[in-house]
Order: sequence, then structure tokens, then C-alpha cells
Amino acid sequence: MKWFQEGHVAIVTGGSRGLGYALTRELLAKGLTVIADGRDPVALDRAARSIRSEAPAVGPRLIAIPGDVADRDHAHALIAAAQRVGRLDLLINNASTLGATPLRAVADLDRKTLSSLFDVNVFAPIHLIAHALELMHRSEISTVVNVTSDAGVEAYPAWGGYGATKAALELVSRVLAAELQGTSTRVLLFDPGDMDTAMHRDAIPDADPSELRDPTDSARALLRAIAEMKQQLERARAAELTPA
Ligand SMILES: NC(=O)c1ccc[n+]([C@@H]2O[C@H](COP(=O)([O-])OP(=O)(O)OC[C@H]3O[C@@H](n4cnc5c(N)ncnc54)[C@H](OP(=O)(O)O)[C@@H]3O)[C@@H](O)[C@H]2O)c1
Repeated sequence: MKWFQEGHVAIVTGGSRGLGYALTRELLAKGLTVIADGRDPVALDRAARSIRSEAPAVGPRLIAIPGDVADRDHAHALIAAAQRVGRLDLLINNASTLGATPLRAVADLDRKTLSSLFDVNVFAPIHLIAHALELMHRSEISTVVNVTSDAGVEAYPAWGGYGATKAALELVSRVLAAELQGTSTRVLLFDPGDMDTAMHRDAIPDADPSELRDPTDSARALLRAIAEMKQQLERARAAELTPA
């Protein structure tokens, strides 16, 4: 019994760049079918072309569906694509927003920014999980991965809005794992570490890229964490894992 193998199916939200792009490439290379999204259809198409030109054998195993995870119809389209393939073994809730940048102090957070943060980072993963579970339970074993951040645990000034969503996602993941006790579906919280991505550049424009992780290393570390998973719920940090 393996957590992921050739013939398995994964949904990766936010697959057009950064960690989601790296995860999509790595999972395709392992023979999975990957359903990936992103709001910008041009960027998503560019990402899919880049993967296909690198690995033409990917063929129809890459299913790119542009859309916003916070849009219910789009979320349903992701699940429907998995249903058409016939299974869903891995759901990676990776797409995320920082809200407004530059990041703001808690006292300066407005309602609109908070709503959008919680819509994308918390409500969308919950909605996707709710609709994915029936199909996931049909697999011998399956994994829900919620991508989190140390900002969900530590108190960094100006990270209160985004950090609150990751803290909420962590709690929801723990409750979900308790509810799924005894089923074949497990829950992994994954902190990818500080990566050299657009999100990090938006948050901390003057960071030194040489001190940031390559998102491919974090993607490989996540695959290792999934492969080595033993409990119903685990929290893995890329910084503590060797890449798969
Ligand atoms: N970068 C870091 O240092 C770091 C550290 C800790 C945790 N994380 C977490 O790691 C994950 C990946 O971050 P990243 O740095 O790779 O981000 P990124 O480079 O900004 O990439 C985000 C991806 O998600 C997509 N996306 C954003 N909002 C979306 C939405 N509403 N619906 C669908 N797709 C959406 C983006 O495409 P579109 O813009 O076209 O939609 C893009 O493909 C996130 O959960 C983040 O919180 C990152």
C-alpha cells in the first residue's frame, strides 16, 4: 500500500507557480494524474506548456482548470474532473493569499481584506475537502494536505491577518483528522518554510533570495512526508525533512 503511485490522482490548488507548480511537476513525474488550478488562465496555461515541453509523456495526466478556489462552482469543477478520471488519492490545499500588501498591523486590517483572506485560505479548503471526501474514501488510502505557515503559530508583527487564517486552517485540520479517525483518509499539515516565490517577494520584497528555499526542495520534502506518514494527523516542516 503506497500513499501515492502511478495511476493515482491528485488535486493541487495554485499550480501555476511557486510551491504548487513544483508539486505538480513532481507528482506528474511519479506517474500521477494532477488536476491543477490558478486564477490567471494565461499563467496556468504557460505553466502547463512548460511542464509538457519538459516531459511530453505527461500527456492527458495534467488537467489544468483555471479558476478561483473561493468560487464554489470552480471547486465543484475540480472534483468533477477527479470523478471523471475515477479516483482522488491526494488533495493539496496550497493556493493562498496574503490579503493586502504591504502587510498590515492588526489594528489596520479592514473587513474586506479579512473576508478575502478567510475565503481563500480557510473556507475554500474546507469546501473542497467537504466535496472531495466521498471520492477520497473510495481509495485504499488517501491524504488531505493543508499547506500552512509558521505565521500560523508564531506572532510576527504585520502577519496577524494571514497568520490567523493559517492558525484556523491548522485547527480545522486537527478536528478533521479526529473526525476521520478509523477511515482511510489522513490529514497532513505542511509548513514549506520561507521559499523564493512570488508570495514571499510580495510579503518581504527585500529578502535575500539566496537565503530562501527552492520550492522544488519543499515539494520533494512534502512528498517524503506523505510517503512516511504513520498517523491520522501529522504536521511536517520542510526544514526538518530531507527531500524525497
Ligand atoms: N512562500 C513562502 O515563503 C511560504 C512560507 C510559508 C507558507 N507558504 C504557503 O505555501 C503555499 C504556496 O505559496 P507560494 O509561495 O508558492 O505562493 P505563490 O508563489 O504566490 O503561488 C500561489 C499559487 O496559488 C494561485 N492562487 C492564488 N490565489 C488563488 C485562488 N484564490 N484560487 C486559485 N489559485 C490561487 C496562484 O495563481 P493565481 O495568482 O493566478 O491565482 C499561484 O499559482 C501557500 O499556502 C502559502 O501560504 C509559503
